[in-house]
This record gives sequence, C-alpha cells and structure tokens, in this order.
Amino acid sequence: MEEKIEQLAAECGNEIAAADSENALYAVRVKYLGKSGLISELMKGMKDLSPEMRPVMGKLVNSARASLETRFTEKGKELHDKELAARLAAEKIDITLNEDTPVGCLHPLTAVRKRLVDFFVSMGFDVMDGPEVETDYYNFEALNVPKDHPARDMQDTFFLGGNLLLRSQTSASQVRYMETHKPPLKMISPGRVFRNADDATHSPVFHQLEGLVVDKGITMCDLKGILDDFARHFFGKQTKVRFRPSYFPFTEPSVEVDVSCSICGGKGCKICKGTGWIEILGAGIVNRKVLRICGIDPDEYTGFAFGFGIDRIANIIHGIPHIKLLYENDIRFLEQFR
Ligand code: DAH
Repeated sequence: MEEKIEQLAAECGNEIAAADSENALYAVRVKYLGKSGLISELMKGMKDLSPEMRPVMGKLVNSARASLETRFTEKGKELHDKELAARLAAEKIDITLNEDTPVGCLHPLTAVRKRLVDFFVSMGFDVMDGPEVETDYYNFEALNVPKDHPARDMQDTFFLGGNLLLRSQTSASQVRYMETHKPPLKMISPGRVFRNADDATHSPVFHQLEGLVVDKGITMCDLKGILDDFARHFFGKQTKVRFRPSYFPFTEPSVEVDVSCSICGGKGCKICKGTGWIEILGAGIVNRKVLRICGIDPDEYTGFAFGFGIDRIANIIHGIPHIKLLYENDIRFLEQFR
C-alpha cells in the first residue's frame, strides 16, 4: 500500500504540473482528492489493514494529501495570475489621447457671454431668457414706443406679419420680467437680437445683454456704481466710465456710457478712433411710464436699466476688428481662442 500511495502521489504531482488552466487543474483535483477520487478510494482500503498498520498508513496518506493540497494551491495561484494577465492583455483598451486630435473650444461669444452672466449673477442678478420672436407690444409699445413713434427708426426691425417681429432689443425682457415679478428686483437677460443692418460694426444678428434693477430709492449713482465695477472687471482696473446724455424712450434721463480705451489708456488710438473713449452701452433711469405699464407704482419705486452688445464687448476684449468674424465660423479665426 505504501508503494501505491507514493505512485498515486507522483502521478498526481505530474498531472498538477501539466495542468494548463484552472479548469484542468480542478479536474485533476477531483480525480485524486474528490469524494470518490483515487486517494479517497485508497482510504477505503484501510479497513482491510491490520490494526497496527492502520495508523501508519493513515499518517502516510494524510501527509501525501497535505503536500498535494499545497501543490494544488500553489499551482492554482500561478494559473489564476497567468489567466488574469492574459485576460487583461486581451481586453485592454487604449484610452491614451492621441495628441494629434484637435481639441475644440468655446466660441468667443459664448465664452464672453458666460463671463458676463457670471459677473452679474455674482452680484445677485436673476437671469431671464426671453423669446426671439416677440410681439410688437413687448418689443416697443410697453417700452414707451407707440406705433408711428419716430424712435422706431432707431432700430430697423424685421416684422413677421400680424403683431409679431424678430426682437430688436433684449429690453423686451424687462417688461416680461416686471409683469411677473414684484420689486425689489435685479435681473439680466442675455440673448440674440435682430436688425436690418449690415456693415463692419453691425450684423443682422447680434447679441445683447439687458440689465434691470428696481427698488425703493434707486438712483443714477447705483447705476454708475455697478457700471464702474463692470468696466474695471472686464477692461482693467484703470478703466474710467463716463456718462453722456442721450435719448431712449424707455429711460428718463438716458445716457450713453463710454469706457476709457484700454488699448491706449485714453491717449487716443485706432480702436477708439483717436478719442480715448469707447462707447459700450445705453442706460438710464426706467421711465415712469414703463413702470406704470408693468404694474409698478413709480411714486414708490424707481429703477435703472442698461443694455449692451455682447459682440461689441467680445470684440473690445479680444481686439477683433470686424463683427462678421464672429459669425463666419472660420476655423482659422476660432482656433485662436483655444
Ligand atoms: N435697448 C437699447 C438698444 O438696443 C439699449 C438700452 C438702452 C437698453 C437703455 C436699456 C436702456 O435697458 O435703459 O439700443
């Protein structure tokens, strides 16, 4: 029996060594150490041995079994590692970036709009989105521009028939906002606007950002304060702001706002056409008539409003000479903002 044990152990050892997969190894294990495996069968023969021989043989079988167990464990680990490594190699996905792949970037208009919105949101302004197809009422009448009023000539508008038009100014959003919100209120409304104009500084489609603040005791000083911060934030700490008297039907008094030219520092250059100042927006104290039309008592509340072209701000910030560049989607132009 001793020989038989040694023979079985040797055979099992060989088969363990030859096993080339975890499944194959498992089959060897069942063959020898399984419930009715060869070694277990051997144990069954113990009962035919003499009582003196039984413990001796028992010890032999158990130690053979134990050393086989160790070999199974070792070989199992080896095969497992090998199979894992093979699977990892086979299933590998190369996720490293190809450096030649062009990386996109935000359009300069989008990037500047986001910065503008962030600036006003950080000051507590609410953001409103208005419709691009607007009614005559919101775009003009409620803003104190009745039909046949000469102020309509200030904005050559695309009329769509009926009462509809392509909004010519985001100021239309002011009215919608005041109709649905009670003061105190602070809102901005960025968006696309449309006018029949087409030259180096005008595009039939462009973008504006409207701002409105209504509360008790709001004055021109509050407007100046916010615009000073705005100008320094976007055009540099040294930037000065000046108000020039102007006319808008929806504000009284109205101003046009210039910033000192950040290119020449105010000395006069090509960008500021030698004046040292760049006009950036229109603003004023909300006309009492407009407040009343929107259901706000002008004896209790006052407000200021302003509106500027996002395109114009982007052009000043980046020194872009022609508004059309923003709309041609020429890759050579857009690439420069990456
Ligand atoms: N909507 C005016 C425009 O398109 C800009 C503007 C001027 C907006 C004065 C305002 C304002 O809110 O108060 O030219």
